[in-house]
Amino acid sequence: MDEKIIAMRAKLEEELAAATDLQQLETMRVTYLGKKGCITDLLKDMKSLSPEEKKTFGQDVNLLKNEATEKIAAKTEQLKNEEILREINSMPEFDLSIPVNMDRGSYHPITLVQRECEKVFISMGFNVENYSEIVTDYECFEALNIPKHHPARDMQDTYYLENGQLLKTHTSAAQNAIYKKYKDALVNDGVPIKAIFPGRCFRNESTDACHENTFFQMEGVMVDKDISISNLIYFMKTMLSEVFKKDIKVRLRPGFFPFVEPGFELDISCLICGGEGCPSCKHSGWLELCPCGMIHPEVLRAGGIDPDEYTGFAFGLGLTRLAMMKYGVKDIRDLNSGSLKTLAQFTDDE
Ligand code: DAH
Repeated sequence: MDEKIIAMRAKLEEELAAATDLQQLETMRVTYLGKKGCITDLLKDMKSLSPEEKKTFGQDVNLLKNEATEKIAAKTEQLKNEEILREINSMPEFDLSIPVNMDRGSYHPITLVQRECEKVFISMGFNVENYSEIVTDYECFEALNIPKHHPARDMQDTYYLENGQLLKTHTSAAQNAIYKKYKDALVNDGVPIKAIFPGRCFRNESTDACHENTFFQMEGVMVDKDISISNLIYFMKTMLSEVFKKDIKVRLRPGFFPFVEPGFELDISCLICGGEGCPSCKHSGWLELCPCGMIHPEVLRAGGIDPDEYTGFAFGLGLTRLAMMKYGVKDIRDLNSGSLKTLAQFTDDE
């Protein structure tokens, strides 16, 4: 086998063994397998070879390419799993073996967190809306600026029903109906739209400690004249500080969602270390909590609201994740297990 191929294989193995984070692997993928990557580069040497040599050389390069693709993908998967495990293990623990009083019922931890969020938002003048779990394609995607065949649909693997409707993949599916319900009061009487809508969402995901096919979100929207990102930051900070019973710092990073422009990921200061850096926040001092943004003009328009006159913010809070963070639940499956013993651990909070 050609010496260059042997050397490159050895280098690949060495770098793979040394790689400790996903960014390194992505760089490796581009360096080895990209269009201008070093494996493709090897083919330049073919020119000087005889037809017979060309054949074996080509085969060997292909073999190396397949090997590199598989090994980089396998290592990426391994590091991702390790990261999930690290996150789970660094969470504070609740003790399942504590004896509990099973004579009385208890609220589900998600209900507790949901009620707490609702209480804060109601005190700030928001309406709580209830919305169905079965929705149309229009509500879940089209009205949110996600047309058919848009790649963003791939982010949410959807359960479709035989009649063409679907199980809502996110609480954003209620946005269109909420705008239509409140737009007349907004336009005619100047009443801002302020609503939150918690609900169960469904995605065709394989389950592990961090993923479930059924989970809860809480969406919130506010629309009025001159609503800005500062309003969004204020409401989120107030709500989260109440829920976690301490002063929470928030920061925004850019994030892409077709129904907001600009879109953000909202991070909160780490609940464990308060921002100093610890294993729980991967030493960054921040935890990713909630995507949000300024409502896209097309989404307002689909709801019958003139985007030249009104602006608004929207956020999609992961209630299940919030409950896990608040109560230190390390495995999401515990929340849907129906185990009374698990759920009774939270009774005393109310
Ligand atoms: N619906 C999105 C999801 O589940 C989350 C989301 C992102 C909601 C941005 C929002 C938003 O309201 O502004 O993936």
